[in-house]
Amino acid sequence: MQHTLVIFKPDCVQRRLVGQILQRFEAKGLRIAALKMIQVSQELAEQHYGEHKERPFFPGLIQFITGGPVVVAVLAGPEAVSVVRGMMGKTSGIEAVPGTIRGDFSVSKQNNLIHGSDSPDSADREIALWFAPQELLDYELAGQHWVSEA
Ligand code: RTP
Ligand code: MG
Repeated sequence: MQHTLVIFKPDCVQRRLVGQILQRFEAKGLRIAALKMIQVSQELAEQHYGEHKERPFFPGLIQFITGGPVVVAVLAGPEAVSVVRGMMGKTSGIEAVPGTIRGDFSVSKQNNLIHGSDSPDSADREIALWFAPQELLDYELAGQHWVSEA
């Protein structure tokens, strides 16, 4: 069982797509372990995307991610990190294949609706950055044995 961080970015909130996209993750069989809406601070944005600090798109990315409220979630399930990354599709909505979230809803390199942790180590770092430990709920869903083995 793995946990991963998903951010429904400001474009996702503004385009009223949060419910539709969250529904895909629930329907897949992932469990919502934490969920909240926040206005991202400059500091949190820079920490979260620290690996891209030297990239030319960094200032625009920080402006974008702080440009309106986001919904942020921790999703849990077997291989949750790679399952979510696969459902997201390639970074650019132009290249992402139909059937993926970005492939279905985005034609932008930057405004690509969601973030998902790119490795289990990134997930641990990002979950600690966005959530206090007590915000993560450990509970069982009814009928889970029909969804997955673990
Ligand atoms: P994310 O971290 O948000 O899940 O996206 P990702 O792994 O697919 O892509 P990454 O390379 O980590 O880039 C982080 C976010 O920066 C924006 N971006 N803009 N204008 C550009 O060329 C450009 N390239 C990347 C996107 O919002 C991307 O998701
Ligand atoms: Mg990334």
